[in-house]
Amino acid sequence: MNILGIETSCDETAAAVVVDGKKILSSVVASQIKVHHPYGGVVPELASRKHIEGIVSVTGAAIADSGLNPARLDAVAVTQGPGLIGALLVGFSFAKAYAYALDVPWIGVNHLEGHINSVFLEADPPPFPFTALLVSGGHTSIYHVTGHTGFELMGQTRDDAAGEAFDKVSKMLGLGYPGGIVVDELAKTGDPQKIKFPRPYLDKTTFDFSFSGLKTAVNRYIQTHADYKAQIPDIVAGFQAAAVEVLSFKLINAAMVKGCKHVAVAGGVAANSHLREKVAEDAARHGLAVHIPSVELCGDNAAMIAAVGYHYLKRGNASHLGDDVYSRIKSKVG
Ligand code: KG4
Ligand code: ZN
Repeated sequence: MNILGIETSCDETAAAVVVDGKKILSSVVASQIKVHHPYGGVVPELASRKHIEGIVSVTGAAIADSGLNPARLDAVAVTQGPGLIGALLVGFSFAKAYAYALDVPWIGVNHLEGHINSVFLEADPPPFPFTALLVSGGHTSIYHVTGHTGFELMGQTRDDAAGEAFDKVSKMLGLGYPGGIVVDELAKTGDPQKIKFPRPYLDKTTFDFSFSGLKTAVNRYIQTHADYKAQIPDIVAGFQAAAVEVLSFKLINAAMVKGCKHVAVAGGVAANSHLREKVAEDAARHGLAVHIPSVELCGDNAAMIAAVGYHYLKRGNASHLGDDVYSRIKSKVG
């Protein structure tokens, strides 16, 4: 089944064509980083406008790259939520209209189910059940995953998402937006042991996270050290080490509790080089197999949306014309 995926939940306009939920024929991602960079974060109204400008050409490019005639598309899958309402509406309305014109079904997809399913676009996907850490700019959660759609939420952040903490620390240090990738690169030149930031483990029996205290600790360090600019690589390395240690610890523990032999990490922060290394190390110590998508599939993309759409459609679950977008998380995944 050839599915066209469309994703516009935040600041990436993306389209992709995927076969049977696993084989990517094409994947095009147009980033809006340059548009939002001067504002130090995503400006929702600008994001919507950029999606409107880009959606037709991005979709056209994805179909052209796939080598398929549009008549060979079997369905259109599109992100329905969570995300920025105006941004979501652009992709959602476009997908409905496009599916209607092609006379094929369309499927509204949960963005978080998309991220988790990104591991199935790689060569060696995990068997069910597995334990997944979803770390993005808006979410930080651990799931017990028993199928392609709808997962058991084991824990989540009580305040900031991990990606948000990376972005805020970057902003505090004047390193710009988006912060995750800058912090990742700079941390490679710093000493993670030099400045010891708190590890927010919370109660060891919970799989919940909290990153606001860690973020405040970095802010306090900046406020109390006039010479902090000379220490930026050590500060970001120390911050990253603290965040990553807790993320990996909780993921591995959750897998042990559920008796899962496979763990996965997905979402924008899964691109973090230290997180990738640390999870691999910790998992190997406990005899667990690790599945982390390639960096291109960690950030927002439409291939993951097409992959989920396939599984809904296989069960006969297409969407209806009256369905609408949603900004907040839906209960089935948290
Ligand atoms: O999944 P994503 O592309 O969008 C959301 O659904 O939120 O995640 C974006 C987040 C941002 O907070 C960004 O700073 C973070 O992922 N990120 C990283 C890295 N690359 C992106 N965080 C840490 N290290 C990275 N290499
Ligand atoms: Zn995302």
